[in-house]
Parts: sequence; structure tokens; C-alpha cells
Amino acid sequence: MKKTSLFLWAACLGALLLPSCTQQEELKEIRSGELWPDNTGVHVNAHGGGILYHDGTYYWYGENKSDSTSAAMVGIMCYSSENLTDWKNEGAVLPVEMNDTTSDIIQGCIMERPKVIYNEKTGKFVMWFHLELKGKGYAAARSAVAVADNPTGPFKYLRSGRINPGKLPFDMTEEQRAVLDTLDAEKYKEWWTPVWYDAIAKGLFVKRDLEGGQMARDMQLFVDDDGKGYHIYSSEDNLTLHIAELSDDYLSHTGKYVRLAPAGHNEAPAIFKKDGTYWMITSGCTGWDPNEARMFSAPSIWGPWTKHPNPCVGKDAEITFHGQSTFVLPVHGKKDAFMFMADIWRPKHPSDARYIWLPIQFRDGKPVIEWRDAWTLAAFDAQ
Ligand code: DGJ
Repeated sequence: MKKTSLFLWAACLGALLLPSCTQQEELKEIRSGELWPDNTGVHVNAHGGGILYHDGTYYWYGENKSDSTSAAMVGIMCYSSENLTDWKNEGAVLPVEMNDTTSDIIQGCIMERPKVIYNEKTGKFVMWFHLELKGKGYAAARSAVAVADNPTGPFKYLRSGRINPGKLPFDMTEEQRAVLDTLDAEKYKEWWTPVWYDAIAKGLFVKRDLEGGQMARDMQLFVDDDGKGYHIYSSEDNLTLHIAELSDDYLSHTGKYVRLAPAGHNEAPAIFKKDGTYWMITSGCTGWDPNEARMFSAPSIWGPWTKHPNPCVGKDAEITFHGQSTFVLPVHGKKDAFMFMADIWRPKHPSDARYIWLPIQFRDGKPVIEWRDAWTLAAFDAQ
């Protein structure tokens, strides 16, 4: 046999015996809590992040954390991948402003939990993130928006602010409105008392912030099957989550919103939808320290939202495996494949923060998350 035909035979046999490239790539392991080198060998720097799947590629956006401060020194990062395990550093797609000290995003501000969604109508990529003004701690509690023509940017910074000024939750009844009218802030100066909690649940801080707009810190974006976009954020001094509708171009809010778990202290909302049910995984509020995840479900994005037990099970489940939720990714091309994403914060060395990615299993129809030292996307095929 000629050398070339022998080579062809060997190649065919090899193709039959070995799994295809795609299958092989699927078998790469995801090892939560370890260092995850990007294509340049450096640990991925995209914390508090989220992933957008667009035209065959996953784009992971997150906070660039420096070695010694959690303030934004670089900006919002993007990494791209076709298999969720090999990540190419696409750089800072929304860099901090270095010179103009009047800019909201001047270096040293706080830019957290960026999320990007694609708008089918405008063909634009829209980023929202939690913004705190430089030197003001966490007092500003603003949301900021930026837009790009391409998933890898550059993103153009548009503006920041509080949310839905002058608007009350659209589902507030006449009765609830009447109670809100009677709430007198002077009577609730002492925080954390039972009467204060009761007043918070009735909307004390919604009323306080009505004119200037509602506070917004930890946040999430969600695009529903009908293309409507929603912004979910910890409002009312982190005491209550708000779910607010975005305009058709996703660049502003329509004024329509509801409150979720009033006075319940939820941060880090991560939402997904399965078989018509909306699931939300959140955390409590303990700064950078981990705490027990919470879970809610609803038949409509507007509720009613029902609380469930912590979806995490097994060792360290009561502290979310040392992490805090940031996103749930529907894995492309697989049925009912949802990946839970969380951050293991390292506030003393922020750039060394690690990632937890775990498959969500469903038992009796409810999400369950179990720690795995290592797993591959094939785990979703076994479900
Ligand atoms: C917890 C939040 O989830 C983080 O995004 C960050 O804001 C820290 N708190 C700051 O303490």
C-alpha cells in the first residue's frame, strides 16, 4: 500500500476509535475553587459575572479585581469561549475612565456584577452593572448602563442613576397604598426592631426613595421568551429585591416593577426559567462572607414568589460551598441544562477570588446543587 493511502486508513481508524473533537472538548473538567488560567495562562479575572451565549460563542463578563482593592482599577472584563472551559481574554470591554474626574466610572469607583444581554430588535449588546461613586462607599446604590455593537465591545458608557423615580410597585393595592401613606419615618428611626422590619415590609424605604428613585446594588438581567428584558436588584438598603421591566431597547426602565421578599435581606440574585417556572437563587447579606443560599419560584416574573429551602445540599451547603451566587447559565444545545455560578470572594486579595460552577439537578421538579470537585458538561446528559 502506498504511504498516502496507509496514512488515510490510519486517520479513518483513528476517527472511529477516538471521540470527535467536540466530544473531547466536552470532557474537559470544570474544577470549582481552583485557579482558572485563560489563554495567556493568567487566572480569569471576571468576578460577580454572567455569561451571554451569542452566535456559537459564550461571552463571560465580570469585574476585574486588583490584588489589593475591590474598587475598579481596570473595568469590566470579557472572556470568550466555545466550550465553557477554554477562555480567551478579550480585555476590558468597558474600561474605567482614567482622566475625567467628573466621570461616574473614574478609576477607583465600584463597578460590580455586570451582566450583558443582546437586544434582537436593535442588534445591540446592553450592559448593566452596579455602580458606586468613587469615595462614597456603597451610598450611591446606582445602576449604570453601557451599549456596544459587538459582544467584545467596546461598550459606550451611557449613564447611571437610581431606578424608577416617582413610581410605586405596579401591583400595590389601594389598601397597601393607604398603609404606605400613613408610614411616618420619624417613628422608625431605630433600625432592626420588629416594628421597623414591619414598616420596611410595608414600604418605608420605597416611600423614602420615591422621589429620587429606588436604590439598586447586587443585580441580574433576564430576557424572557417573548424578548422582554428585566432588571433584578437588591433595593431598599439591600432589604428587598425589585424586579423591574426594561424598555424595548433595554436601555432604560419602563416604571413597572414589583418587590420580592420585602424585608428579606436578599443579595446576589440569579434567575432562570424552566418549563414555565421562574427560579431565583439568592444569598443573604453578609458582605464578602459566604452565607446560606435561598431559593424562590414563581409562575410569572411578577410573582407570586414562593420561598423554598436552600437548593445546595451536602458538605458546606449552609455556606453555599464558601461562595455567593452570581448567575445561572442555560447551557446551549442541551435540554434542561442549567449551570449555577458563584464567587468565592477573597477580599484581602481580591484578584485571587475563585469561581464555583456546578450543574443544577432537578429532584421532584426542584433545583438541587451538589458540590463536585470536578465535572464535565457530560453531567447534563446523565440527568
Ligand atoms: C456582597 C455583594 O454581593 C458583593 O457584590 C459586594 O457588593 C459585597 N457585598 C461588598 O461587601
